[in-house]
Amino acid sequence: MASLVVFAAEVKMPDLLSTGDAKAGSELVALCASCHGANGQSISSDWPNLAGQNQRYLSEQLKYFQQGDRENVLMLSVIPYLKTLSDSQLLDIAAFYSSQTPAIGQAKNDQELLALGESLYRAGDLKRGIPACTACHSVNGAGNAQAGFPKVSGQQKNYLISTLKEYRSLQRNAGDYSLVMQSASQNLKDYDIEALANYMHGLYEK
Ligand code: HEC
Ligand code: HEC
Repeated sequence: MASLVVFAAEVKMPDLLSTGDAKAGSELVALCASCHGANGQSISSDWPNLAGQNQRYLSEQLKYFQQGDRENVLMLSVIPYLKTLSDSQLLDIAAFYSSQTPAIGQAKNDQELLALGESLYRAGDLKRGIPACTACHSVNGAGNAQAGFPKVSGQQKNYLISTLKEYRSLQRNAGDYSLVMQSASQNLKDYDIEALANYMHGLYEK
């Protein structure tokens, strides 16, 4: 199995929160392209893709960075710029990236790793207090745009690993929703995280 294809019927819902202006947003992201790519597909496995991510999640995270609630050395360089932007401009940036074509990743072809990733992602592990990721991120990894639960399919692998470890160590701690992930990740071992990241990286929406 070279890649993971997960077929699931996706019902297109009207995006009730689509108030951002993607065109206006496209003019506010010149500083972001060096890491996140001109169209939101980042060029390093360490840096998150933003393309196709839901608007609500993106605008919330931008707000956290702007306010200093979510911290990262690389994002630090753009905080002064983010501070000059209004909430509606943050929403425009979110609308822009959300409208871009999502990246498709390829999972590493390692049967043991794939089996563990799939089983944890789909079913969790009740005995170890690990919830099924599908409950919020959906079977195909699309997340939940209305609720602002992030899309995880095709996300960069090293970023998935580092951010899950940051939830686990409680270092990623911005907003009420981070508590959900802090709790979901508490009992994940490093190998579980690697397996989940490999699986999510190879998932894509169809
Ligand atoms: C020097 C590289 C760099 C630049 C420039 C940069 N970013 Fe980032 N960005 C990152 C990294 C690395 C992360 C992951 C942070 C973390 O792990 O907490 C990130 C995270 C994000 C996230 C959260 C993604 C997620 O899935 O949670 C958003 C949104 C974001 N950046 C938007 C922007 C915007 C908008 C700009 C331009 C104003 C920008 N970034 C500029 C490196 C960069
Ligand atoms: C009850 C709902 C829920 C469950 C269950 C859940 N998540 Fe999440 N997840 C969220 C929410 C909400 C966020 C955004 C949190 C924030 O704002 O920091 C999130 C964020 C994430 C992120 C960060 C995305 C990004 O772009 O930075 C990853 C990765 C992730 N979850 C993976 C998982 C995995 C793996 C599992 C299963 C072990 C899981 N989640 C279970 C709701 C959930």
